Amino acid sequence: MLTTPPLSLYVHLPWCVRKCPYCDFNSHEGRGALPFDAYVDALLADLDFDLPLVWGRTIHSVFFGGGTPSLFPPEFIDRFLQAASSRLRFAPGCEITLETNPGTAEHGRFELYRAAGVNRLSFGIQSFDDETLRRLGRIHDSGEAEAAVKLAQDAGFDNFNLDLMYALPGQTLAMAERDLERAFALQPTHMSHYQLTLEPNTVFAARPPRDIPDDDASWDMQEHCQAMLAAAGYAQYEVSAYARPGRQCLHNVNYWQYGDYLGIGAGAHGKITLGAEQDILRRWKIKHPTRYLAAAGHAEAIGGDDRIAPARRPFEYMLNALRLVDGFSLDAFEARTGLPRAAIGDALGQAQAQGWLAIEGDRVRPTELGRRFTNDVIELFLGEDDENRVAVPHEVAGYTVD
Ligand SMILES: C[S@@+](CC[C@H](N)C(=O)[O-])C[C@H]1O[C@@H](n2cnc3c(N)ncnc32)[C@H](O)[C@@H]1O
Ligand code: SF4
Repeated sequence: MLTTPPLSLYVHLPWCVRKCPYCDFNSHEGRGALPFDAYVDALLADLDFDLPLVWGRTIHSVFFGGGTPSLFPPEFIDRFLQAASSRLRFAPGCEITLETNPGTAEHGRFELYRAAGVNRLSFGIQSFDDETLRRLGRIHDSGEAEAAVKLAQDAGFDNFNLDLMYALPGQTLAMAERDLERAFALQPTHMSHYQLTLEPNTVFAARPPRDIPDDDASWDMQEHCQAMLAAAGYAQYEVSAYARPGRQCLHNVNYWQYGDYLGIGAGAHGKITLGAEQDILRRWKIKHPTRYLAAAGHAEAIGGDDRIAPARRPFEYMLNALRLVDGFSLDAFEARTGLPRAAIGDALGQAQAQGWLAIEGDRVRPTELGRRFTNDVIELFLGEDDENRVAVPHEVAGYTVD
């Protein structure tokens, strides 16, 4: 029996000052004055169009992702949140995160984001090494990154994430460690530590920098950095996510626990459990901001609707849940896929025999070994004729994480 899980709201704001050469997110260099007002109107029309999918349900978290959401002046975030909370019930203490590029921080802005209801920030820092930042095409230097975080702290933000990447062009182990030390000095509650990946259709994929650390060096950096994060009090709870106690990102945890989310904005993905129909719907919006602006609120803004047939659910579930260090419970698997645990009995047995999963009572956790071979583990849960065999997992997951 499928039961409706917690519901989140993802809002995509698609513009950036400059496109970074490694980035394949739906982000577009904003030229001239950006249509902030029209875009907020479009978001609200988009939300209204999707509302019938979630009547009566409560929103547990909101995430403004991008692109660079902090390009939007606070009054637009305020207008959106006020209008959204008049249409949907927000849970008390609802986590509301805004992604922030340090190059867009301005004095006085953070107070106003807070007043609008934002209670968590996620800063795209990437590195504190100025030459590395230049090579990554970033619009900020390390001093500006530190200044932006301090401005936010002075405005009362005590819950914030820093994004760092590692295995960067020209980076040594000592440089990766220095980046972490400078991050710790700012006392974030959360750290995201991503290995640089060369994504298709990016400048870096077309012309890869010569001096990207090789697999051995990258693995070395990951191991050392994981140990440093643990020693500094940041417990790893997902492949790339680390948090102080009680400070995990609730929004992202909901994705990984196969929760529900509305996705509004250009290219945003949503996943909604339809209790009455005992079905799961994935819906995504068209990507291009200009076309989205014209179509939002109408069927033309829908990039696609996909019903997730029961045979595909185990793979989708594992793609998310096995990212979590703590794995999942078999009860949650049943509630969120509508399938009996027997449906994955064989695959679980094989994964356990390989030493990839540990099963204790109701709880299934990836082992150290399983976490190194995540793709092989997840593949065990593909159905015989599963069309996911040819799908790109990134598209199935379809969301931005901080
Ligand atoms: C959508 S970006 C949002 C942050 C904001 N736009 C910024 O860059 O300041 C989310 C994060 O994904 C990470 N990221 C983006 N592209 C990546 C890549 N090719 N490899 C690894 N991490 C990447 C970066 O750490 C980035 O901060
Ligand atoms: S990494 Fe962030 S700032 Fe750079 S292009 Fe991507 S979304 Fe924009």
